Amino acid sequence: MLSIVLFGAPGSGKGTQSKLLVEKYNLTYISTGDILRQEIAEGTEIGLQAKDIINKGGLVSDELIVQIIEKIIEKSRNGGILFDGFPRTVVQAYILEGLLHRMNTRLLCMLSLEVPRDMLIERMLNRAAIEGREDDKEAVILNRFKEYDNKTIPVAEFYKEKGIYCPIDGTGTVEEVFSRLENIIDKTLENAYRNIIVFGAPGSGRGTQAKHLAKEYDLVYVSTGAMIREEIAAGTELGKISKPYIERGDNVPDLVAIKLIERKIEENTNSKGFLFKGFPSSYVQAYIMDGILEKKHTSVTCMIELQSNTLQCIKRLTQRSKTESRRVYDMDPEIIIHRLESYEQSAANVRSYYQKKNKHYSVNSDGPVDVVFETLCKTVDIALKKV
Ligand code: AP5
Ligand code: MG
Repeated sequence: MLSIVLFGAPGSGKGTQSKLLVEKYNLTYISTGDILRQEIAEGTEIGLQAKDIINKGGLVSDELIVQIIEKIIEKSRNGGILFDGFPRTVVQAYILEGLLHRMNTRLLCMLSLEVPRDMLIERMLNRAAIEGREDDKEAVILNRFKEYDNKTIPVAEFYKEKGIYCPIDGTGTVEEVFSRLENIIDKTLENAYRNIIVFGAPGSGRGTQAKHLAKEYDLVYVSTGAMIREEIAAGTELGKISKPYIERGDNVPDLVAIKLIERKIEENTNSKGFLFKGFPSSYVQAYIMDGILEKKHTSVTCMIELQSNTLQCIKRLTQRSKTESRRVYDMDPEIIIHRLESYEQSAANVRSYYQKKNKHYSVNSDGPVDVVFETLCKTVDIALKKV
């Protein structure tokens, strides 16, 4: 979900910061420069082709880079990637778009480390004394700058147009630069992904409203109820486990819900976020939700509770039992009451979980569908700080 390009002139600190970022955000690290140096050291075909160009400070061909990137990207199917030194030409930027698209993911941001030239030269000459990199000689450094100015700077324009270019002051200590990077990544993550929970009693209109809301805000609709019904219909293992619970009007075991939600998230890694309906429905599940999202470096943006009069809920469910979309648990008034009771029992805890985090909002849902939806959208806008 979280893929980042770390950009900047030679010596700007990409390699140094990468190590820290990879650790903190649990990313796969792809440095085309490191890979090329490795190929040279091993004397491979790619290494032979790249050696002279690198030692003169030029850029190796896009064709060669594609071969390298494809090979390594295949191995890093899960989680985010940190790209260091790629893309370095506009052609490579297009290639990356294609690769990410194929992986059903997208770039979160391009972080550009900005450091004055004289400081860059000083850093690289220092490094030459320690690491002895072939291309850290003054004449070669100047050539690398020339290549950077001509071919790599336009890549920044490419990402500026996409609105994901973030310049960062790359001067100061390593720690100072890192904390600037962390700040911007965390902020971008918060804005990039939106995870909304629609909460409420059975019959409060959660399903109806949540589906509309997902569409309106371009979020993936995650209804544990709907997913479980699909599993039952398909006769899968998870379906078999769930069936008796559903028939009684009870919650399915938490592990079933976790598996279904994680699968849904995995299938939609390029989405802007998720709209959850039916989960969490207990205090424990509120913790679980945080755990699931934390794994994806994201979090719950807001929890919106639809508040409906209990009689109204019963009326709506009884009404539904007479239609095509009736559920097994709509047919028996005792089960309806049982579901409403268990909701009552757990709702207060779930509510207070989100109230403590300042993420709880409530909307009265007794009115007609379109009126409730309008209020709901206004509330979501407030929660997303759009207004
Ligand atoms: P590559 O290895 O990517 O080199 P580069 O872009 O020139 O960058 P450097 O690795 O020199 O610098 P860096 O930004 O990583 O800085 P570092 O953290 O080391 O590419 C090498 C060559 O491979 C290219 O020239 C090209 O030929 C080829 N190539 C690679 N990718 C390609 C592609 N996609 N397409 C075509 N060709 C490609 O820091 C520098 C020094 O400063 C270090 O000594 C560090 O300790 C120090 N330092 C870091 N931060 C600080 C700080 N805050 N304060 C003080 N010192 C610091
Ligand atoms: Mg480097």
